[in-house]
Amino acid sequence: MGLISQLEELEKRASALITAVQTEEELETLRVKFLGRKGEITLILRQIGALPTEEKPLVGAKANEVRAQLENLIEKRSLELRKGFFDEKIKTEAIDITLPGRIPRRGRKHLITRTIEEIVDIFLSLGYWVAEGPEVETDYHNFTALNMPPHHPARSLWDTLYLKGPGEELLLRTHTSPVQIRVMKKEKPPVFIVVPGKVYRRDVADSSHLPVFHQVEGLAVDKGITFADLKGTLEFFSHRMFGADKKVRFRPSYFPFTEPSAEVDVSCFCEGKGCRVCKGSGWLEILGAGMVDPNVFDEVGYDNEKYTGFAFGMGVERIAMLKYGVSDIRLFFDNDCRFLEQF
Ligand code: PHE
Repeated sequence: MGLISQLEELEKRASALITAVQTEEELETLRVKFLGRKGEITLILRQIGALPTEEKPLVGAKANEVRAQLENLIEKRSLELRKGFFDEKIKTEAIDITLPGRIPRRGRKHLITRTIEEIVDIFLSLGYWVAEGPEVETDYHNFTALNMPPHHPARSLWDTLYLKGPGEELLLRTHTSPVQIRVMKKEKPPVFIVVPGKVYRRDVADSSHLPVFHQVEGLAVDKGITFADLKGTLEFFSHRMFGADKKVRFRPSYFPFTEPSAEVDVSCFCEGKGCRVCKGSGWLEILGAGMVDPNVFDEVGYDNEKYTGFAFGMGVERIAMLKYGVSDIRLFFDNDCRFLEQF
């Protein structure tokens, strides 16, 4: 067989193999087999030397043509294989965005925490700042400095849990009012503070009592503060907290550390018709308040000729019950998720 027809046969055979090949490695093997330095075309070209002079250029040209042809074919097949490879990868490794995602469980703030934040925010908007004090308190801060010397009968207004401490008698604070004393002893007037915190009383739990609950105390001291300021401030607070349609009422009351003193009621959701929550009265008590007693100013070293002030203390659970229509205070501390998730 002549070299030309050998080249033609080689081209046919190689083309068929190249077209059928399925991987890049096999393709490379074929390239070496046909076009490599020891490949079939090279072997044929080596025989050119033995040919008659006039045939040499013809066979040379044919060999180049076949080589170019096969190189083209290999390049084309290589592209096809690579494209197939990526198509396959895209198909098998794609993320299926139609699958429903895993929704992370979100926590939320406890209703009492949220109520404290709502109360505090209203007073922050009026320029008050936040102060805090210890839950384990001295008898002095909880009672004596608040115009209740030892054996004062008003001490029995608070059922107190006592702790025997070294030297001083320690107790669990029964209200947030001792923080008034702590702040006034440290700061000069004017003072405008709110004090959120836990308080403790020797009470048996029922639907409206718990031995531990929360209060937010307020204290405003400056020159020329009057009872009208107290009324305006608490009315503003109640309308912000419960809505402008709620009525607010001040009843005369007694606290040893304020004079005069008042208790503040907000009109009940039953709108005076009478219900279980307000026990038929149409009103719900939310806080105690009054003008700071001059004896308290004396105790902390404020000039009671120069300064006047008001104070108030509100029950957070009471306010949350009113605002969210909760009829049993114990629900806040059972921490049953079915209850908490509703808010
Ligand atoms: N500390 C009082 C209480 O717990 C409430 C109060 C605070 C009253 C401030 C007047 C002024 O009952």
